Amino acid sequence: MHVPAVEPIPPELVTLDDHERHAREKLDDNAWAYFAGGAGDEITARANRSAWDAMPLQTRVLRDLRGGHTRVRLLGRTLAHPILLAPVAFQRMAHRDGEIASAIAAGMQGAGMVLSSQASVSLEHVAQAYLGEPSHGPLWFQLYFQHDRAFTLELVQRAEQAGYEALVITVDAPCSGARDRERRAAFTLPPGISAVNLSTMPPPATITLGPGQSRMFDGLLRHAPTWEDIEWLRGQTRLPLLLKGVTHPQDALLAKESGAAGLIVSNHGGRTLDTMPATAALLPAIRNAVGAGYPLLVDGGIRRGTDVLKAVALGADAVLIGRPYVFGLANAGAMGVSHVLRLLRDELEIAMALCGCRTLDGAGETIAT
Ligand code: FNR
Ligand code: LAC
Repeated sequence: MHVPAVEPIPPELVTLDDHERHAREKLDDNAWAYFAGGAGDEITARANRSAWDAMPLQTRVLRDLRGGHTRVRLLGRTLAHPILLAPVAFQRMAHRDGEIASAIAAGMQGAGMVLSSQASVSLEHVAQAYLGEPSHGPLWFQLYFQHDRAFTLELVQRAEQAGYEALVITVDAPCSGARDRERRAAFTLPPGISAVNLSTMPPPATITLGPGQSRMFDGLLRHAPTWEDIEWLRGQTRLPLLLKGVTHPQDALLAKESGAAGLIVSNHGGRTLDTMPATAALLPAIRNAVGAGYPLLVDGGIRRGTDVLKAVALGADAVLIGRPYVFGLANAGAMGVSHVLRLLRDELEIAMALCGCRTLDGAGETIAT
């Protein structure tokens, strides 16, 4: 395996936004359109961010904060802090070390990692890199149901064998969003970068659509999973299933009833359906629907330690970040991802200390509701 080089972090990078600005210089227009872009007018992508910004924190003073920490419990494990890497496809487009660098950094920082189905590195190599770090957190595999269910199952079995501890089933992208930015940039995957874990999948059978049939509904979507497939998959694997992309309280209840071990409240970083609400706005109703104690994560627009604290205050057990760590990756490989995670962890500790919040169990009182 290629051993990632130690790359210096430019000293002027002190926030996640600094990483984003710097990454714009490092990435070409093609990669930038893919990584930074959202769907349509990017209203949801912007709303994710502005919703956290708009939520004021409430402080308490003169409390004894000794023994405080950022640890949380999630699916039977204790995590050093509640920040995970979200599944992001094709990371070798950001840096030659791709997902391996992200895995090493996440492992070193005790951050959970969710590997995309469309990773550009083999899932076994990523597991090896991540699980080789002594302070690693939970390693999960993000699954897109493939048109070939037998192949989907093979993928699940590979993930089980490689040491992944849970499957994250992404349910909000039966088709891609309208990615105008990508179309304007005529986005294509560069040569040598592909979804390597899917490369042996047989192509879908070609079908001829009848008159009045839709390429979307009768074509692409005929392979899209339904609640029945979730039930089916539950019977095929010992791994817990988390559903990513649930935004309606009724769906949250259906997920819980279907035996999902947890949920990720997500609008895919505003990359699927534009004009969906910000995840910060969706989260409280989902927590309310599933009740206390049910594993719930959120992503979308988390750029500050204060955002992490707010997410936990609104009922999330943990958060995921997507674009920010890919920008860190583009800037300085594994060192860049590690830096992004470290910045967020430090900011979270500062925010907790200044709010008078010793542990994240007490996060609820840091926002006025
Ligand atoms: C994603 N996301 C994503 N989600 C998923 O389930 N499978 C995937 O392969 C991908 N790929 C992907 C690529 C890129 C470039 C981005 C930006 C996002 C969505 C991702 O997991 C997460 O939901 C969002 O990125 C969270 O929003 P922020 O943190 O990017 O604002
Ligand atoms: C994306 C897909 C891969 O957001 O989920 O690009």
